[in-house]
Amino acid sequence: KGCKLVGCGSAVPALQISNDDLSKIVDTNDEWISVRTGIRKRRVLSGGDSLTTLAAEAAKKALEMAKLDPDDIDLILMCTSTPEDLFGSAPQIQKQLGCTKSPLSYDITAACSGFVLGLISAACHVRGGGFRNVLVIGADALSRYVDWTDRGTCILFGDAAGAVVVQACNSEEDGLFGFDVHSDGSGIRHLNAGIKENESNNALDSNGSVPSFPPKQSSYSCIQMNGKEVFRFAVRCVPQSIENALEKAGLPASSIDWLLLHQANQRIIDAVATRLEVPSERVISNLANYGNTSAASIPLALDEAVRSGKVKAGQTIATAGFGAGLTWGSAILRW
Ligand code: ACO
Repeated sequence: KGCKLVGCGSAVPALQISNDDLSKIVDTNDEWISVRTGIRKRRVLSGGDSLTTLAAEAAKKALEMAKLDPDDIDLILMCTSTPEDLFGSAPQIQKQLGCTKSPLSYDITAACSGFVLGLISAACHVRGGGFRNVLVIGADALSRYVDWTDRGTCILFGDAAGAVVVQACNSEEDGLFGFDVHSDGSGIRHLNAGIKENESNNALDSNGSVPSFPPKQSSYSCIQMNGKEVFRFAVRCVPQSIENALEKAGLPASSIDWLLLHQANQRIIDAVATRLEVPSERVISNLANYGNTSAASIPLALDEAVRSGKVKAGQTIATAGFGAGLTWGSAILRW
């Protein structure tokens, strides 16, 4: 049994923050940021903006392109590390889309690799679980977990949502093949946003009567990152992962029409392209406009490339996500 991509969509918040805007709150400048990262601006949620609503907007556009109704969807995978509810966002997206048949909806947490892992999960659900139309959404709002006084991290991230529809098809039409996925928990020290106990919110604790119970309420720390180590990890692991995925697909690197990597840093994208000998005109990048949007970056860039006519039907795309966990994974797909 095969599965193929039949629609894509994306949505970004209205508020745009340029490198010059950032230079007013931390000691940085446009030249440093653009030379080291390729990023010029990013979108950030503001006021009452909701990531769930942004994700639903991207999903609606993908359904429209696929010419499907919300009730044609039998599974929604929301790939995010920043859900608006501790218990997950996917059912809320399902509700906003107006699905009336209660399709299974759940979240996948794998940082910047989330979307690739979501795609692979969708393929498994279609091939082994009998699902017909799976909505895979990548959406993140890392701006909510960035330390806006840390110039080493706050310049990197933006918020966005992107979505695709993965549909069951016969094996000759198969458009999703050659996966490779990994994780390595020992790399957690290089990139994390761990849980922390909040200070003095427990009356019993301040009385000293029961020191360890009930526990204090917790929240997540801001993003902590060793940029150089993350950079090295990406440049080392991503080309190998794409080569593995190509091998499983039985395709040579020369068959890649488009290289579409997680948009984290232009220098990482360029280094991976050089390793795989993919010329720059076959590399998709929209990092300059949106920064690193975590799980949203691949479907956002794919959607822009499809709608602008850059990516055409039948073309082969090598995609890879990498990030916190550490996690990384690649997929070879046909649009
Ligand atoms: N503006 C000006 N100067 C800065 C800034 C800034 N925004 N940030 C750091 N600097 C300074 C540092 O303080 C340092 O100064 P020093 O030499 O006086 O000590 C100097 O610039 C060099 O800093 P480095 O951190 O060594 O710079 P580097 O070349 O490594 O670039 C960067 C940093 C851009 C973060 C790079 O390491 C990178 O992109 N790494 C990958 C990060 C990444 O992709 N993370 C996301 C993973 S996805 C996920 O799952 C969330």
